[in-house]
Amino acid sequence: MTNSLTITDNRTGKTYELPIVDGTIRALDLRQIKADAEDFGLMTHDPGFNNTSSCRSSITYIDGDAGILRYRGYPIEQLADSSSYLETAYLILNGELPTKPQLDAWVHEITHRTMVHENIKKLMDGFHFDAHPMGMLISTLSAMSTFYPQAKNVKDPAMRRLQIARLIAKVPTISAYAYRKRMGLPYVYPDNSLSYTGNFLKMMFQRADPYIPDPIMEKALDVLFVLHADHEQNCGTNAMRSVGSSNVDPYSAMAGAAAALYGPLHGGANEQVLRMLQEIGSASNVADYIRRVKNREVLLMGFGHRVYKNYDPRAAIVKQLAYDVFEVVGRNPMIDIALELEKIALEDDYFVSRKLYPNVDFYTGIIYQAMKFPVDMFPVLFAIPRTVGWLAQWDEMHNDKETSIARPRQIYTGYDARDFVPVEKRG
Ligand code: CMC
Repeated sequence: MTNSLTITDNRTGKTYELPIVDGTIRALDLRQIKADAEDFGLMTHDPGFNNTSSCRSSITYIDGDAGILRYRGYPIEQLADSSSYLETAYLILNGELPTKPQLDAWVHEITHRTMVHENIKKLMDGFHFDAHPMGMLISTLSAMSTFYPQAKNVKDPAMRRLQIARLIAKVPTISAYAYRKRMGLPYVYPDNSLSYTGNFLKMMFQRADPYIPDPIMEKALDVLFVLHADHEQNCGTNAMRSVGSSNVDPYSAMAGAAAALYGPLHGGANEQVLRMLQEIGSASNVADYIRRVKNREVLLMGFGHRVYKNYDPRAAIVKQLAYDVFEVVGRNPMIDIALELEKIALEDDYFVSRKLYPNVDFYTGIIYQAMKFPVDMFPVLFAIPRTVGWLAQWDEMHNDKETSIARPRQIYTGYDARDFVPVEKRG
């Protein structure tokens, strides 16, 4: 078997042989295929990157048909069961699980970087009382680049690592501040005696009394963070790499990634799922909602995925986790509507023929709501753990000799050259 592709250009009758490497051809190899000497050469057209690889990556593996997700080779089920978010973050960043001393040092490093500059508090004070927390997070991330001007030295690996640790440590703090600002509550400073998620819960929910995080909640949130840590070249990560490819600092690039995540087709879907369940109101209204979906009046939020054409393995874990949380806080009645939606959808030819299954966002909102997070915090709860994925991919990009500035081509559909008409002569 020869690893090459033979193409005959029927315009000219010429034949070309292109190498196949790693199951791909290089788009630039098509450029030699020209209709005549004046021709620019053949390009590919792929809006939305439906069939285009944009990089090499050794971080996350997904087999969408089989419903498989692995970080650095480790199955997501094993990591969700046996690892912690910070240990998984170390794995994602460094490629290997840490030894005990490495893990202790890493946890200490992150824990002791959680404070943010007092001016960040002042900056966040300027937001309107009903600002969406995701908007606050995106803006504050971008503002943070002004607090760390040396972060623009993106070609220095040690400088990159410093910013990565800072961001993983501080994103929960600014996320909790966004919530407190929204609620009109005083900000709560980080508590270094607590775990990553325990500290976040305290910064969110402490009132006048001392706050001790419930260990089941702390663990459940940690598992959710493991599940969201990375997901290869999704819209947000692609934004991180694309913006970062201009060599801008990671805070600015991450503001771009978080903005992409905010959209309802991406990480904002968890918020939309909950709003959809609230709109449906009861399991008896599910059939009518499905009818509207099939009429293309609405989308079934939390269903479908560009890569998974099978049950999203994260959704299966989240569904199970919901019951652990309900043991502590009581059953969220939204679960009955969600279960009925899933049951009807998985039997219906519209969804079966399109291979539409629940994705990670379908059940997470039900858990977050049971944990007393307000609905507009849900995308933020996706962004916090995704921080490590974005930054690991950004770091990998800077180490990759193949990287060049993201700059796609276009098919121009506008006018040919024409002469400027002075305003008084325009009809
Ligand atoms: N409800 C109803 N129909 C759908 C849905 C849905 N949720 N998702 C896809 N379809 C239909 C779509 O209309 C199309 O039908 P047809 O071929 O007849 O026109 C077909 O299924 C293929 O869909 P697509 O839009 O071409 O698929 P895509 O890969 O471009 O989009 C998606 C993937 C996730 C944007 C889409 O499935 C969707 O909008 N889902 C709802 C939003 C959502 O839950 N997003 C979270 C994704 S997982 C978390 C993450 O972002 O990582």
